[in-house]
Amino acid sequence: MAVDARAKALKAAGKPVIGFGAGEPDFPTPDYIVEAAVGACRDPRWHRYTPAGGLPALKEAVAAKTLRDSGFEVAASQVLITNGGKQAVYEAFAALLDPGDEVLVIAPYWTTYPEAIRLAGGSPVVVMTDESSGYLADVAALEAARTERTKVLLFVSPSNPTGAVYSPEQVAEIGRWAVEHELWVVTDEIYEHLVYGDASFTSIVTAVPELADRCVVVNGVAKTYAMTGWRVGWLIGPQDVVKAATNLQSHATSNVANVSQVAALAAVTGDLSAVAAMREVYERRRSTIVRMLRDIPGVECPEPLGAFYAYPSVKGVLGREIRGRRPATSAELCELVLEEAEVAMVPGEAFGTQGYVRMSYALGDDDLVEGVTRLHKLVAEAR
Ligand SMILES: Cc1ncc(COP(=O)(O)O)c(C=O)c1O
Repeated sequence: MAVDARAKALKAAGKPVIGFGAGEPDFPTPDYIVEAAVGACRDPRWHRYTPAGGLPALKEAVAAKTLRDSGFEVAASQVLITNGGKQAVYEAFAALLDPGDEVLVIAPYWTTYPEAIRLAGGSPVVVMTDESSGYLADVAALEAARTERTKVLLFVSPSNPTGAVYSPEQVAEIGRWAVEHELWVVTDEIYEHLVYGDASFTSIVTAVPELADRCVVVNGVAKTYAMTGWRVGWLIGPQDVVKAATNLQSHATSNVANVSQVAALAAVTGDLSAVAAMREVYERRRSTIVRMLRDIPGVECPEPLGAFYAYPSVKGVLGREIRGRRPATSAELCELVLEEAEVAMVPGEAFGTQGYVRMSYALGDDDLVEGVTRLHKLVAEAR
């Protein structure tokens, strides 16, 4: 968000900045969702407080959608509607963790996870991965990081920032390992519909049903329906976890804005045709960005199978001279690229790994080509 804000400020000052920083779709929210919200604005019912845990109709719809998309059967009482997936992440850890509990977090990780874990009194324990495995962790790596204090595995597939997607077999293996060691799993499924090529989304709790009473699912409408600004997400879990998280939310923020909840209801009860159309565009842009990045000397880009990010290694560029400077870290390289090529990327440091950059391909096709071309030209000057 900091990189995105700087890029937007430069743009506002008249610089032709191309931003690969933002973690959000560039599409407007589909019309039928917006129309539902407009109708809700005019209905005085939605001008008042509603139950802190979410509109009953939306909770029912989220339960039905979860069965439709994941094959996971839950009651509406196991659903809590939150202010975005982000609040669901915070509340899941607040409900689950006691001081000193450890949470396994696979790196590169979404920036918020370690902060949410620490805020709840827990300790994130990082399990490192790199491009050689396509940023996937295996059970051996997880087992090596497990201690007596390990309480939760945080699982996310498709992943932000890497776009990595675990195969159904890998998901099942990790789920069985979690069951064997009586760990909780918090599974972030916010990119479930954005998978490409032969990859498919597998919900860990469907792959390993024995996890159901130790699993919290985090999800939301932000990425799937181009609704990042509406702030609607949810968590699904065992009744006691949902009750505790609902109590917390009741005192922290009360109900999510009703107009947004009505919009989310239209989204999750509608069909997936608008989602399929956006997915197709991302898939085309994904091919373009991966092909172009792989042509840049010193850049290595594993194929992202989901979400809308590429996560290339730039280690081959670091330490070399470009326009009188010698960037030693991915953070320094991103600064140089923003200043010299007017291209914004997020340095890997934000995701717990140095030597990488995250580039969102949720931007227009022409900008995408122009931005990567500028990056290529600048990096080609490296001596
Ligand atoms: C992996 C992941 N989970 C959850 C979220 C939260 O999304 P929101 O709070 O907008 O619903 C994001 C947003 O960037 C994300 O990348």
